[in-house]
Amino acid sequence: MAKSHLSLARVILVICIAFAMMALVHLHYAKFYRQADESTATTVDKHHLFNTHNDPTQPPDQELVLSPYEPTPTAMPTLVPAPVPSPEPTVLPEPKFTMTDTALTTSVRYSNGTITKTFKPAFYKDVNGARNEMGSFLETLKNRAWWTHNAQGNGLAAQTAKGTPVTDRFFAYLPMGGGNNQFTALQKAALLAKDLKRTLLIPPISPNSHIKVWSGPRYSEFYNLESFSADSGIPVLEWHDIKQTPDNPTSDFTHQWLAFSEEFPCVPNGSIGVKNKNLYDHFRRQFLMNFKAIAPGPGIVDTTQGRSGNYTFARDVLLRDTETADDASQMWKCLSCPYFLGGGNVNERSWDEIGLHMRFNDRIEAMADDILDMLLPPAKKPLDGSNQQLSTARRHAEFIIIHLRRGDIVTKCKPGQDEKECLVQIEEIAEKVDAIERERRIQVLKSSNNNTSDDMVLERLPVLVATNEKRPGELEKLVKLGWIMLDHGDQEVDAKGNEVPSRSKKLGTMKALGPFYPPMLDAVLLTRGDYLIGMSNSRMSQLAAQRGAAWYKHKTMLM
Ligand SMILES: *[C@@H]1O[C@H](CO)[C@@H](O)[C@H](O)[C@H]1NC(C)=O
Ligand SMILES: *[C@@H]1O[C@H](CO)[C@@H](O)[C@H](O)[C@H]1NC(C)=O
Ligand SMILES: *[C@@H]1O[C@H](CO)[C@@H](O)[C@H](O)[C@H]1NC(C)=O
Ligand SMILES: *[C@@H]1O[C@H](CO)[C@@H](O)[C@H](O)[C@H]1NC(C)=O
Ligand SMILES: *[C@@H]1O[C@H](CO)[C@@H](O)[C@H](O)[C@H]1NC(C)=O
Repeated sequence: MAKSHLSLARVILVICIAFAMMALVHLHYAKFYRQADESTATTVDKHHLFNTHNDPTQPPDQELVLSPYEPTPTAMPTLVPAPVPSPEPTVLPEPKFTMTDTALTTSVRYSNGTITKTFKPAFYKDVNGARNEMGSFLETLKNRAWWTHNAQGNGLAAQTAKGTPVTDRFFAYLPMGGGNNQFTALQKAALLAKDLKRTLLIPPISPNSHIKVWSGPRYSEFYNLESFSADSGIPVLEWHDIKQTPDNPTSDFTHQWLAFSEEFPCVPNGSIGVKNKNLYDHFRRQFLMNFKAIAPGPGIVDTTQGRSGNYTFARDVLLRDTETADDASQMWKCLSCPYFLGGGNVNERSWDEIGLHMRFNDRIEAMADDILDMLLPPAKKPLDGSNQQLSTARRHAEFIIIHLRRGDIVTKCKPGQDEKECLVQIEEIAEKVDAIERERRIQVLKSSNNNTSDDMVLERLPVLVATNEKRPGELEKLVKLGWIMLDHGDQEVDAKGNEVPSRSKKLGTMKALGPFYPPMLDAVLLTRGDYLIGMSNSRMSQLAAQRGAAWYKHKTMLM
């Protein structure tokens, strides 16, 4: 009797957890599986779609127009597992699931094959039991029940039902460094996956020296992986869908995670020759995986001893499929550090074939719009409908955005070196802003358009600044110039609870959304400025310039 009460309580608990998670993920996703089934996609956030800022002169994507939902014969299938569909609270479907309850975890397996796990306190105390229960990710990949399961109505099933082949070969890598360097590593890895005709396993956006937490969020929390897959032709899977591990373990556990880990077989590096213990990633830790250096394949010798930064060498020599290898060893390829791979046209390809297609998702674009709503005046109405390109179909006024990368770059100035020699000065940036304004005036006067009103000529554009500058003197200069700072901090209050006046509007992003959001939102906003001024030595600026120019035809310059 008591026992059945107990298990009833567990069932209720698990249902509550499941609902809570669905509610959470509801917040996290803006749209799902549009290309799989447009009609059933719950476009809750459709009014948020980021099309108000598109260049209206830009031609629509030819490929999508020609064959909206049929993959081209050469295109690889999208294997991104469907994010949780966000049901309206009133039409919440009865979730079908089976529950497995052990001493260590409670697992819920949904009818579509998705498994979610809740870790009990005992999990963290029983190394062997925990390892047994986690199983092997290679086994999971081999069996991959969640792809082949014949569930109705979710995106994956819909795709498989259309007869799209499912690729059963994978390519994995380790991310490296901060968010922007991780993006570079992802670009190179995706290129390898494409060339090797393999499914790319995407790690989370990993904690790093700037963001010191245990686990990082999925890429799909910020990027639209479905459209990436469709546009790049590269099937992708996220590690989160292959292995469930504790998100916020106790510090006891985090000190002994290696004991709980399984082997992560991988060909050591591209070019840096770092030791295993200095792999610069926190991805393995989050997914409880212990790096195990393996030979590239039967009979393949890395003559460079891991020090080659030659992309072609890695692809054609290290990672090639060999005829002698069995299916199991063909299934898995991994290169620890694709970050430094280059040569030939690898950098161009990294943008043209990968970066270009990795668009932010609608949810994060909508957040950027909300920030712009707070900081910018609304877009001007056209005077007579003639000047459409300038002012209709956009929500915010035109603006200039500056990426003033400071902080750790300051420390890169040599001792005794004048800062002016190693750091772009705010005064120089102000001159560039003036140059933009001068150019705008000249353009307006030159244009044979008598319908432009004077204020359009004379009003200066608002200037937004994304910066990690902390020195009060420098920040004071930005205020004097009337520039608007992107400040993700919290409104400070004094002892009496009154707001402390501050020189910038506090967006509160950091506290509300956590440490991965401020840099990501800045990255989105940098693509949105009609004019971008960035720093040529900053990867974040470079990426923003590529994105702004390619996606929106914005004017960009790096100093
Ligand atoms: C399967 O269904 C569950 C519950 O509705 C959901 O959370 C999960 O995201 C779904 N997985 C896939 C791959 O559709
Ligand atoms: C990279 O290659 C060098 C030389 O083979 C090796 O000593 C080093 O351990 C490798 N790096 C990793 C992460 O295994
Ligand atoms: C890169 O590697 C490929 C394949 O091994 C080789 O043909 C090519 O010459 C290498 N390029 C350079 C610059 O070393
Ligand atoms: C603009 O209008 C003025 C007077 O209304 C006229 O003299 C001038 O030629 C016009 N400019 C152009 C480029 O049409
Ligand atoms: C100016 O406005 C008039 C009337 O609204 C329109 O007919 C004309 O084409 C516009 N001229 C230009 C150059 O846009």
